[in-house]
Amino acid sequence: MTDVELRPWSADDLDLLRRANTPELMDQLGGIETDAQVVARHERYLRLQREGTGFQFRIVIAGHPEGVGIVGYWHRDEGGQATLEAGWSVEAAYRGRGIAPAAVVAMLEQVRAAGETLPVHAYPRVDNPASNAVCRKAGFTLLGEVDFEVAPGRVLHTNDWVARLARAAASARLT
Ligand SMILES: CC(C)(COP(=O)(O)OP(=O)(O)OC[C@H]1O[C@@H](n2cnc3c(N)ncnc32)[C@H](O)[C@@H]1OP(=O)(O)O)[C@@H](O)C(=O)NCCC(=O)NCCS
Repeated sequence: MTDVELRPWSADDLDLLRRANTPELMDQLGGIETDAQVVARHERYLRLQREGTGFQFRIVIAGHPEGVGIVGYWHRDEGGQATLEAGWSVEAAYRGRGIAPAAVVAMLEQVRAAGETLPVHAYPRVDNPASNAVCRKAGFTLLGEVDFEVAPGRVLHTNDWVARLARAAASARLT
């Protein structure tokens, strides 16, 4: 698998988020953001860690300590049920090298190491073959299609993929 390292989101990572604020990339998340919204997202990522409600990482590869992408997870209430949701992106120049699947696998290890046992869901749009391929390659199971409200009034037609940490840990113990 491609060599990647995950670094906890830090105060220095605002530029990484600014580079990710392209129409092509943000179309998957609800649309391009103003700079104030990007700064607010950066603050939210830092707050997740402080409050223990999730974790975002900078994806680092050899020769690129500034980061080539973002991967993370956060707690979410899904109709009264506590779950985790994950998301990711890789800058256009570094795609097609297996960076995202390797980063997602590394992130799932971090989620387990943090003692989380809730299922981790990911919701790529049905018309996003690259991200659906990442889910498959990182070992998620496809549950089906769902409409997902990414922002008030903005609904995306997505696939619901899940990685079950508890089951993965249980089967790992059996081997
Ligand atoms: C989805 C994304 C993170 C994949 O990252 P990646 O590191 O390129 O992942 P991979 O190298 O495994 O490539 C995934 C798929 O992208 C496609 N792909 C291959 N080369 C590519 C390239 N040069 N450029 C774009 N996509 C490519 C292929 O379908 C590949 O799947 P395959 O290997 O089974 O054929 C990246 O495309 C991205 O950031 N997209 C925009 C943001 C986004 O969609 N985020 C997910 C929101 S749910």
